[in-house]
Amino acid sequence: MNLDIIVRGGRLVTASETTRADLGIRGERIVAIGDELAKTHGNGAKIIDARGRYVIPGGVDAHVHLALPFCGTVSADDYDSGTRAAACGGVTTLIDFAIPYGKETLRQAVDNWHARAAGKACVDYSFHVAITNWERQKKDVKRLIDEGIPTFKQFMIYEREGWQSDDAAMFGALETLRDLGGMLCVHAESSRVLSLLIDRHHNRAAMKKHGAYLHTMTRPNFVEAEAIQRAIQWTRVTGGRLFIVHMSTGDGADLVKQAQEEGVHVLAETCAQYLALDDSVFAKKDGHLYATCPQVKKPRDQKRLWQGLASGEVCSISTDTCTFTRKQKAMWKGDWTKIPMGMPGLETMLPVVYTLGVRKGRLTINQFVDKCCTAPAKIMGLYPRKGTLRIGSDADLAIIHPTKTRQVDWRKMQTNCDWSPYQGWSLAGFAEHTFCRGEQIVNNYKFCGRNGFGQFVPRANVGRP
Ligand code: URP
Ligand code: ZN
Ligand code: ZN
Repeated sequence: MNLDIIVRGGRLVTASETTRADLGIRGERIVAIGDELAKTHGNGAKIIDARGRYVIPGGVDAHVHLALPFCGTVSADDYDSGTRAAACGGVTTLIDFAIPYGKETLRQAVDNWHARAAGKACVDYSFHVAITNWERQKKDVKRLIDEGIPTFKQFMIYEREGWQSDDAAMFGALETLRDLGGMLCVHAESSRVLSLLIDRHHNRAAMKKHGAYLHTMTRPNFVEAEAIQRAIQWTRVTGGRLFIVHMSTGDGADLVKQAQEEGVHVLAETCAQYLALDDSVFAKKDGHLYATCPQVKKPRDQKRLWQGLASGEVCSISTDTCTFTRKQKAMWKGDWTKIPMGMPGLETMLPVVYTLGVRKGRLTINQFVDKCCTAPAKIMGLYPRKGTLRIGSDADLAIIHPTKTRQVDWRKMQTNCDWSPYQGWSLAGFAEHTFCRGEQIVNNYKFCGRNGFGQFVPRANVGRP
């Protein structure tokens, strides 16, 4: 068999095992795994030396916002810079959220997002669709599922954005998606109590005294916990499938674990920032830069989320990439309710989780691959095409050095952001080489992909970790 590329001598890591072997690629697929492939199939093949390296499946980031109109501006990474950042971070598939604005239908939202990605994306992508008005928008759900978009998001907050769903909408969506084989993703924060806490502190004296720290003061853990509890209750009684997105609290992990033990179909992701940062960042000089929604929590939450990843109730890791530059963040002018919320993450997810997870002994190398590649691919209906190293899968790979570190510096990164939450951090696990569907898109830490290479990937069979 002729091979186009042989990745030679690396340690191939899947969610369940690590083996030293060569990996052969022909066209877009992995077609051979074995010893000494260069001897038997090497004629004309390009050889990538992976000795002393881990070869992992390309990362699957199931929670990304590119060029998102949000908080009075548009997030700064689009399908060009965002997918270049993904490539350099070893992420070869991302899932963005198509969101309808005003009276748009779900169909129009999806068409708008296809237009944003077309001709620009350098890695593969898919979409979830946000439901902002269930009664008006439900008619499109079946057709979108048939087109390969089986996951929908409802927000329990963001009234100001016109995105908020109430309990009846969640109940209806869970029932309908249950019957059609879809899954409901929920942003769980308790809107009414959050508004009350914000109103209580939204005055000049408090803003002068506490600045960006008010972001954390007004979002205590029970804001997320109460909403998760309610979403779980609607899932329990409907028998639907629930996925809690960007879970930030240890309380959330406790609730999800309890519900899973009861047999409720609930899964949850957390994000790299909740594992790496805590709310002391808001006391920094540029603390407002770190405002994201939900915000980063306490060290005890971090600890519980790491533990939940290792024991299983926290199923996967994503980034919630939603990049805003310093200039955009400056819109706050001292009022924390006006900070554009979100941060960059695609380029640093694998290094942050590898360094703080694997190198610190919190996750095994196989759990790292599971949480960042395999589990999100399975849950979101991309597996086994994506998220693993097996014959027949897309040749999506990241090759990482186990110990070599690089210092994070936004100036040297692909993101359009002019700051990084991890600026100056020394991280291992950056992609030395990245391949997406057999095409090399990062070579020796340098982006070498091309706009328009990335394809939309249809999905099916969601919700199975
Ligand atoms: O602050 C964030 N995460 N912005 C993106 C919107 C969301 O809630 O996911
Ligand atoms: Zn959200
Ligand atoms: Zn998000």
